Amino acid sequence: MSKISVLFVCLGNICRSPTAHAVFQDKVSAQNLDHKITVDSAGTGDWHLGLPPDKRAQKYALARGFDMSDLRARLVVEEDFNQFDYILAMDHSNFSNLRAMQPQNSACELSLFLDYSHNPLYSDYQEVPDPYYGGDSGFNLVLDMVEDASEGLLAHIKAQL
Ligand code: 4NP
Repeated sequence: MSKISVLFVCLGNICRSPTAHAVFQDKVSAQNLDHKITVDSAGTGDWHLGLPPDKRAQKYALARGFDMSDLRARLVVEEDFNQFDYILAMDHSNFSNLRAMQPQNSACELSLFLDYSHNPLYSDYQEVPDPYYGGDSGFNLVLDMVEDASEGLLAHIKAQL
């Protein structure tokens, strides 16, 4: 069977989606599933193309053992809907922008990433809150949510392998 491919998408591709990319990749590697699952991230906005993740996002991720320093921001493109099996949007705005781009014949599953979070702590949330203009605590909340939703997504994908 070919690999399952997963793309995380946010607005700038420098805070939330690279965090999800690094955390989910770490969980895939820890379970020796690199030969079965590929991971990437992208943004719907073009302000930070080619740049590494936000320094605050990198700092708080590294404190939990997730190294994001090699990641670089890129734009999501229509071709991604042919390349990826799953596209996970961080918020409703990302989701509706992606839905508008999705070709009609695309079999890609487009969802909100937090649909895969099962922790009651986050049951009031449908979106991973954008931490860019907020304080440092926002980056830890992103990590908490992303770690939880990554476990749910990985369990869902593993059930199909
Ligand atoms: P992200 O956060 O979508 O989680 O990467 C943002 C990064 C940059 C901007 C907005 C959100 N910006 O407006 O430049």
